[in-house]
Amino acid sequence: MKLLLKVLKYLGIFLLAIVLLISLSVIIAVNYKEYDVRAGADAFPGIETKQDVEELAVKLVSEMTLEEKLDQMYGEGYFWGIQKFVGNFLVIKKFPHIYVGRNDRLNIPPWVLSDGPRGAVVVKGSTSFPSAIARGASWDTDLERRVADVVGIEMRINGVNYAAAPCINLLRNPLWGRAQETYGEDPWHLGRFGVAYVQSIQQHHVMACPKHYALNSIENSRMYVDVSVGERTLREVYLPHFKKVIQEGGTASLMSAYNKVNGDFCGENRYLLTDILRDDWGFKGFVSTDWLMGLHDGVKGVKAGLDVEMPFKNHYGKELEEAIANGSVQEAEINTIVTRILKTRLPYAILPDKMEYNPELKASENHTALAREVAEKSMVLLKNEGVLPLSKPAGKKVAVIGRIADVENTGDLGSSNVRSEYVITPYQGIKRYVEGMGGAVLLNDGSDLEESIKLAGEVDAVILVVGFTREDEGEYMGRIEKGKDHNAPASGIGGDRQNLKLHNSDEQLIMALKTVNPKTVVTFVGGSAIIMEGWKEDVPAILYAWYSGMEGGNALARVIFGDVNPSGKLPFSIPGDENELPEFNRYAESASYGYYHGYTLFDKKGSLTSFPFGYGLSYTSFSYDAPMIQSTGLTVNDTLRVSVNVTNSGDVDGEEIVQMYVGFSNSTIDRPVKLLRGFDKVYINPGQAVTVSFDLPVEELAWYNPDSRSWEIEMMEYELYTGSSSSREDLQQTTFSISSVSK
Ligand code: BGC
Repeated sequence: MKLLLKVLKYLGIFLLAIVLLISLSVIIAVNYKEYDVRAGADAFPGIETKQDVEELAVKLVSEMTLEEKLDQMYGEGYFWGIQKFVGNFLVIKKFPHIYVGRNDRLNIPPWVLSDGPRGAVVVKGSTSFPSAIARGASWDTDLERRVADVVGIEMRINGVNYAAAPCINLLRNPLWGRAQETYGEDPWHLGRFGVAYVQSIQQHHVMACPKHYALNSIENSRMYVDVSVGERTLREVYLPHFKKVIQEGGTASLMSAYNKVNGDFCGENRYLLTDILRDDWGFKGFVSTDWLMGLHDGVKGVKAGLDVEMPFKNHYGKELEEAIANGSVQEAEINTIVTRILKTRLPYAILPDKMEYNPELKASENHTALAREVAEKSMVLLKNEGVLPLSKPAGKKVAVIGRIADVENTGDLGSSNVRSEYVITPYQGIKRYVEGMGGAVLLNDGSDLEESIKLAGEVDAVILVVGFTREDEGEYMGRIEKGKDHNAPASGIGGDRQNLKLHNSDEQLIMALKTVNPKTVVTFVGGSAIIMEGWKEDVPAILYAWYSGMEGGNALARVIFGDVNPSGKLPFSIPGDENELPEFNRYAESASYGYYHGYTLFDKKGSLTSFPFGYGLSYTSFSYDAPMIQSTGLTVNDTLRVSVNVTNSGDVDGEEIVQMYVGFSNSTIDRPVKLLRGFDKVYINPGQAVTVSFDLPVEELAWYNPDSRSWEIEMMEYELYTGSSSSREDLQQTTFSISSVSK
């Protein structure tokens, strides 16, 4: 009896505490207050240039108390921050702004983060773009600049000035759940897209924060996996794109990854955060952690060069105060961190804006039209046996079949999820298009095969929609689970995929319908590679539509009926057999990242891919002349100049992605067969020829010698390939030489 009373008493106290906390969260949510991320007009009179702001930053640090300095180094206080988060996010479904470093005494405004890989996240109603992997498939970096321009404008409208984007982790194995958030498998291509995004968004006084630095390419185990990597692989494969967004893109910030690299968590990894980032690359901006679990030891963080703990004060609180008191951290170290934070962020808060951020611009007609254009230019046509484009649907009947054909499916439910006002599903887009032309559309979810077969036999064309949703892949939302077998089911949603196959029900549907109607188009919705070996030979057309954003359904219709000529190409290789891929265990406590992956691995092993990196068809055809090298007598400081004539040899206009690779068969060390070193997307009218030129600095041919710890350029003859994909049969070859003296 006594025991029972005791239990009831503690239970009562526990329940009361919960009720109090929830009430507190709700009160906080109701009293949510917004702050401006821009300094008031008269906050800092006479500060007009970047140089002025940098001097101001030094002065402000000299005027700060220690507590005020530490306040610059984390998001919000832990207890209140969590209450605010719970109240807003869970109770009233609003992602609250986390205000970092507001100091009213010194007039310093806070900075505020929003995720942004597929649009401006935190406030509802933004434009939802196709996921980054789709945009990577557009191979159009000017288009990416336009996307980041819109994301920047909408973030400013949302009261934000720090974009947790772009994600530029390398797609090492397409099982990776967050494949959709990055641009693809190739470091060169990733670098070009990363630079485009960073430069464009920063024009709007939104700091870019490329993420996740570094080697974050497994999702379920991201909080704990220790990735071991050799020096050469690190420098040549996993970091070049990060170096580019810093040196060429001029990014203000960077987000450290959750995982460990060679034994140390990335947020505490001095080798990554100081030796490479600052000493080798000269990065002057600041690094913030990935959220909640990005830092485990405050002192280690400071010593490593980590600037801001996000989103709450945890290890950068008491631990640092004690460390400073006992002398294990010096105030001078804190001054260095706070000075670089302020020097970096204050220009974004003080220098004049280039435009007004009028709320009406958010998800405006221009912005949503861009979302559609991007979706159209990203879709990749993998197979087309005379089916596409479908003829105009006047008076015709079209069936749209599949479990996800009428699902709002813009990608995962994780941090990159944009909550737009509407999403056009594949079915809605096709219906609108076909009915607008006097045809009819029938929807069938594919759950009853007999019924689907019957319908497919009765219509003029079948659009079969297969693939994934946020349940299947994406940022992992669930319990952290360690050390299980890769195939063991996960308790949450999203995360890494178990294998590269479609759901059985999708495969069965394809098998059942593949020969019923000769005008059948298999449309794939998802974020990376799938194995198609069991059915790809038998279906007439395969279109990769990706997670195509709020306007995706409209874009799909315009591609299928030929208003738009598809021009995307794969930003990763699709293997015929997933056993050919680098080892991947989604619960691994340790993983070793080798030098080869993607097309470099397939090239090296001589394995056949199902569809190679850089592959994609068009409704027209393009013919290539041989590449022409325009520079002679090249030495290490020169630039290789290449041009190639490409002709639209078909009868409709179209865009072609011209690719340039460099080969290393004469190397005396182990090097890839070839590496992408240039690409350009060009619009060509039927019968017209264009000359595409590439300028490649010779230093881009260097390899990293781990013994001498330096980049070296081999004096030898290199192969130069240009063409329409990474497949050898799509490339034409010439050679050029680099020597130590110019001829
Ligand atoms: C993700 C980051 C994201 C952050 C804030 C983390 O869980 O890994 O990519 O920026 O949350 O939403």
